[in-house]
Amino acid sequence: MLHAQPGNETMSEAAAPGRLQDKIALVTGAGSGIGEACARAFAAHGAQVIVSDVRAEAGLAVAQDIGERAIFIALDVCDPEAWDAAVAEITQRFGGLDVLVNNAGTGTGGGIERETLADHHRVLDVNVTGVWSGIRQALPAFAARGGGSVINISSIDGLVGVEGLSTYVASKFAVTGLTRSLALELGARNIRVNSIHPGIIETPMVAKNTGKSMERLRKAVARQPIPRMGRPEEIAQAAVFFASDESSYCTGASLVVDGGHIAGPYRDPM
Ligand SMILES: NC(=O)c1ccc[n+]([C@@H]2O[C@H](COP(=O)([O-])OP(=O)(O)OC[C@H]3O[C@@H](n4cnc5c(N)ncnc54)[C@H](O)[C@@H]3O)[C@@H](O)[C@H]2O)c1
Repeated sequence: MLHAQPGNETMSEAAAPGRLQDKIALVTGAGSGIGEACARAFAAHGAQVIVSDVRAEAGLAVAQDIGERAIFIALDVCDPEAWDAAVAEITQRFGGLDVLVNNAGTGTGGGIERETLADHHRVLDVNVTGVWSGIRQALPAFAARGGGSVINISSIDGLVGVEGLSTYVASKFAVTGLTRSLALELGARNIRVNSIHPGIIETPMVAKNTGKSMERLRKAVARQPIPRMGRPEEIAQAAVFFASDESSYCTGASLVVDGGHIAGPYRDPM
């Protein structure tokens, strides 16, 4: 049997529970969708999870359902004082932080003339400043555990442009830029910073699309090499990898999990 050296696992060992044994992991926006799936997967792999969300009822329900490996802390990622309080509580209860998943996100769309300046600021505030603040405020908690892993949930929209979604796309490109810059800046502190770029994933955020925009999403998905929407759990598996020591040589990386959506332009089969 192989010893569990990072990068030396067999397939069956890599799939076994305990990949995140006793890691302390905070997931933002974990009251639904991808964040909820990350929290559940982390706990299943042995982590102590801090489920956080601006919607207290939703986040608390997820934490309670996970059970003893989870607690809930209310956290609006746009509020620096809430970050301070959350990090202080986590440090006091668990001695620091090993993993931070910056997942909380929001969107706007419909074209540049239909978006208001307030929409634009709100999306940048949650999707960009929320990520920046989280990493900044969590630094002492990472230091207390000798380093850590930051996982930023960007999007395929953080790598390619999308007509009608300029603000959301700009926010997700910014997350890609924060990831790469902070990977460089924080490497010496033993903090790895990576981003995940989900494609079209079946979550409440996507379900909000109705009528023509939902029809457009379905058509786009049908043209992918893997012609279906992704499941939140499929993003959570990528997050488990980045949270675990299996990714010990990854930092500044952008992992696309999109059913092949942005692999290249679609052509009708010959
Ligand atoms: N679903 C997709 O197809 C898709 C694709 C690419 C990227 N993403 C990204 O994945 C992340 C999660 O999206 P989802 O699809 O699971 O959406 P979702 O709407 O199901 O979940 C988002 C969660 O974030 C929380 N949230 C919103 N604003 C917050 C704030 N200010 N502070 C704390 N929590 C806040 C919400 O309450 C919600 O629980 C987002 O960053 C999103 O941009 C989603």
